[in-house]
Amino acid sequence: MRVQSGSCTRWIVMPELLPDTAEIGPNGHLIVGGVDTVSLAQEWGTPLYVYDETTLRGRCQAYVRALAEHYPGEARVCYAAKAFLCTGIARLVAEEGLGLDVVSGGELYIAGQAAIPGLRTHFHGNNKSRDELLQALDAAVHSIVVDNVHELHVLSQLADQRDATVPIWLRISPNVDADTHVYRKTGLLDSKFGFPLAGGAAADAIRFALSCARLLPIGLHAHVGSQIADYAPFLDTVDALLGLAADLRSSGFALQELSPGGGLAVQYVPSDPAVSIDALVQQICARVSRSCARDGLPLPRLVLEPGRSIVGPACVALYTIGARKEIPGVRTYVSVDGGMSDNPRPALYGARYTALLANKADLAADALVTVAGKLCESGDLLVRDVFLPDPQSGDILAVPVSGAYQLAMSSNYNQALRPAAVLVHAGKARPLLRRETFEDLTSRDV
Ligand code: LLP
Repeated sequence: MRVQSGSCTRWIVMPELLPDTAEIGPNGHLIVGGVDTVSLAQEWGTPLYVYDETTLRGRCQAYVRALAEHYPGEARVCYAAKAFLCTGIARLVAEEGLGLDVVSGGELYIAGQAAIPGLRTHFHGNNKSRDELLQALDAAVHSIVVDNVHELHVLSQLADQRDATVPIWLRISPNVDADTHVYRKTGLLDSKFGFPLAGGAAADAIRFALSCARLLPIGLHAHVGSQIADYAPFLDTVDALLGLAADLRSSGFALQELSPGGGLAVQYVPSDPAVSIDALVQQICARVSRSCARDGLPLPRLVLEPGRSIVGPACVALYTIGARKEIPGVRTYVSVDGGMSDNPRPALYGARYTALLANKADLAADALVTVAGKLCESGDLLVRDVFLPDPQSGDILAVPVSGAYQLAMSSNYNQALRPAAVLVHAGKARPLLRRETFEDLTSRDV
C-alpha cells in the first residue's frame, strides 16, 4: 500500500489484503477508491461496509479475461450471489458481463429488481419449493440446477403442467474432498447436495431426466466447497463430471454445459496462501480441453461460479472502537460497535481476520489486542491477537477482506441494526444499502 508523506512515497504491510485502490493519505488515514475512510465513517456512521468499485470490476474482469485467454470454447462467469447481493452489486457484475448464480426465490427476486434477465441466471438449491421452481420458470432462467430425485419429479410435473421445455443441469456429488472448513465441504459422498456419482445415482438421474419429455438436461455441475486454496479439487471435479458425460453418451446424453462451481479461496491474513484467479482458470481450462479431447467429447460451454473471490477482497469493514479492557498478563480487549451480527464468520468457522486503524494507518502497530464485538456472547470476537497502534476509544478500525459472506449472513441478533454499505470510486461514495433503523426492527411485528 502506498503511503504519501510530503513528496516521498513509501509502502507499508498488508497491501495484498486491501482493495486495489487503497493508499494512505498525508494525514495517515486509509483511503479507498480515492475516499478518506475516516470521513466515510463520520458521514455514514459505523459499522460501515466500504466496497471498492475498481477492485470489484477488476476481479470480474480477471475471470472473464482468463476464460477468454485460456478456453477455446464458449464460457461464462456467473457471480455466486449468496456471497453478497443487493441490486447495486447485481447491476455492477452484469455490467461486467457476468451472469448470476442464485439459490433462492429471494435472490432471484433481487436479480429481477436489478433487471437482470432470467436468461443470465441459473438456479441452485437442494430443497427448492414448488413456488421457487415456478418463480424460476416465470423468470425463464437459463437453467435450473436439479439437485435430487424429488426435485426431478416435481420439476417434470410442473414442466408438463406448463407445457414448457425446461433446460436443466444436474448437480453431481463427485466425492471430492477439498481442504476447507468441514461446514464448507460440499463435494463429499456424505453431503446433502447433489446426485452421488458413487453407486450410479448420478447416471440413473441423467437417464431419468432424458426420459422426461419436458426436461432438457444440458449441463452437469458440481461445487465441492468454498475457500479452497489448491487447484486439485477443481481438476478432480472436472474429471469426474466429464467422465460421467462420456459414460452417458451412449444413453443419448449430450453435454452442452459444464460447471465445476466456485470456491476459490482469498487471503484473509498475510499468512494465508496467495491464490490466483488466472492460474486457477488456466488449469481448469486446460483440464477440460485435455479430457474432452481424450474422450472425444465436444468442448462444452464452461461456466464458473465465483462468489468470495469477486467480492471478498473488494471491501473493508469500518467500526468505531469504544471500550478497552486490559487484563494484566492475560489480554487486552478493544470492543467495536459491530460484531457477530454483521460478521458471524469468526464465531461460525473460526475464521481469521486482521485489522488496521483507518485513522492511524501510518503508525507502527505495536499493541497486541483482541477485537471484540458488542454482542452478548463471549464468542463474539472479530479479530484475535492483532497488533494495532495503541487503539483508543474513537479510533476507526478497518477490517480488510470483508466483502463476502458477512453482510450476506448478517442478523439482527441482540436487535443490532444491520450496517450500511457504500460503493467508492474516484473520490465519491454511493450508497448500496442503507443502515437499518429501529423502525425496521418492528416493521414485521403484527
Ligand atoms: N456455487 C455454489 C453451488 C455454491 O454453493 C457456492 C457457495 C458458490 C458457487 C460460491 O463459492 P465461493 O466462490 O464464494 O467460495 N458461508 C461460508 C461460505 C459458504 C459457501 C456456500 N456456497 C463462509 O463464510 O466461508
